[in-house]
Amino acid sequence: MRVARETAKLREALAGRRRDGATIGLVPTMGALHDGHVSLVREARRTCDVVVVTLFVNPAQFGPGEDLAAYPRTEEADLALLAAESVDLVFAPEPDEVYPTGFATTVAVGGLTDVLCGDPQRRGPGHFAGVTTVVAKLFNVAEPDVAFFGQKDAQQVAVIRRMARDLDFPVRIEVLPTVREPDGLALSSRNRYLDADERRRAAALHRALEAARSTATAGAPVAEAIDAARSELAAEGIDPEYVEARDAEDLTPAESFNGRPILVALAARVGPARLIDNIVIEPEGELEARCTATC
Ligand code: PAJ
Repeated sequence: MRVARETAKLREALAGRRRDGATIGLVPTMGALHDGHVSLVREARRTCDVVVVTLFVNPAQFGPGEDLAAYPRTEEADLALLAAESVDLVFAPEPDEVYPTGFATTVAVGGLTDVLCGDPQRRGPGHFAGVTTVVAKLFNVAEPDVAFFGQKDAQQVAVIRRMARDLDFPVRIEVLPTVREPDGLALSSRNRYLDADERRRAAALHRALEAARSTATAGAPVAEAIDAARSELAAEGIDPEYVEARDAEDLTPAESFNGRPILVALAARVGPARLIDNIVIEPEGELEARCTATC
């Protein structure tokens, strides 16, 4: 496994393989790797000839007062783990390499970034502009055939898909399911911030989403499903930043659970950690569940 610290080195390492016709799979991460990341790496390994993983805590996607300084950095362990997963190349640049003096460009997707985690009253669209700027750079440098992302960050996926389509990046975006702890908590590098009691309470996030799902599949309207989720959170003293039902693709507010896949997404602070999670309620699932209830 090679580790490239510089953009030019990464390009150089990939050029020959690309010329030989190898397919390139890219897994962008901020490191502090866990089994969620590993699921993306394994899928890349299974389906692509060359696997490139990036480890870069991207300053541009952290707002003022967010956890950029505290964000876990565990490069040695990450590299050992990636070597064991037979990764070919790791790109682990310093911030100056990605954003040299004079850097002045932002790649920003409109609309999709003003809601949920990008709501101007909350984090603001600047977070996603930071994500799309760095992901656009990674796409340009690695020129992957396929890039792998997790459903855990559903809005990020919607925004990156939009960017890739709008800017004609010749890349296929693959999305893999959220990997969870046995009690349902979605794996996240930020779970390391939780103490034992917070860790136990954090499982309410997934219970809340499942409560929304079962309320929806029983035929209740959207508002009731959201209320069911809020009650689960309230039972653990968690006051969410948001719990919302939206169209899974265009993120417009969901009026009902009829017809299209609906994303139920939430963000909540548990102790020092800001956690997010989501589920998608598929219309088929809803119909089947109604049928077993009534047929
Ligand atoms: P990071 O939070 O490190 O996540 C890297 C990738 O792993 C993302 O695609 C994310 O959705 C996925 N992931 C995280 N937790 C997961 C889980 N429990 N199950 C499945 N996949 C999971 O997302 C970022 O970094 C950054 O925004 C990045 C895209 C690298 C740009 O800086």
